[in-house]
Amino acid sequence: MKLVIGNDHAAVDLKFAVMGYLVEKGYEVVNVGIDQTERCNYPDIAVDAVSKIQQSEADLGILICGTGAGMSVAANKQKGIRAVVCSEPVTARLAREHNHANVICFGARIVGTEMAFSIVDAFLGAEELGGRHQERVDLIAKLEEQ
Ligand code: RB5
Repeated sequence: MKLVIGNDHAAVDLKFAVMGYLVEKGYEVVNVGIDQTERCNYPDIAVDAVSKIQQSEADLGILICGTGAGMSVAANKQKGIRAVVCSEPVTARLAREHNHANVICFGARIVGTEMAFSIVDAFLGAEELGGRHQERVDLIAKLEEQ
């Protein structure tokens, strides 16, 4: 599975920790975030990251900023992107199973490294459940046409 990861200046260290964790597990990870702590604008990073999913260059995405909130708001403005911000693994799993989330977001100022690992494990270990959930995801997709 190919992943894209993005981060702003608030999340450089956590990005590297999560990337290392995932690469060790055998994932291919494309890094579109910043690698130094100079200030940047999270919407630019979010759009760059999710474009990899839209262009089928990545299957799923991980976006990290200070809270995860800004990244998720920006990512959700993009077609076909379902980004969920969370701070624990249950929401991460259910976001994938029920909401067919293709991007998970969290905050480096909110979660520690071990919790971040648990979140990505839960997200990547889950699968879209389809069925009644697919009907609801289809309704969300229709909102993009309005
Ligand atoms: C940057 O200071 C901060 O606003 C950003 O990382 C993020 O938390 C926004 O949602």
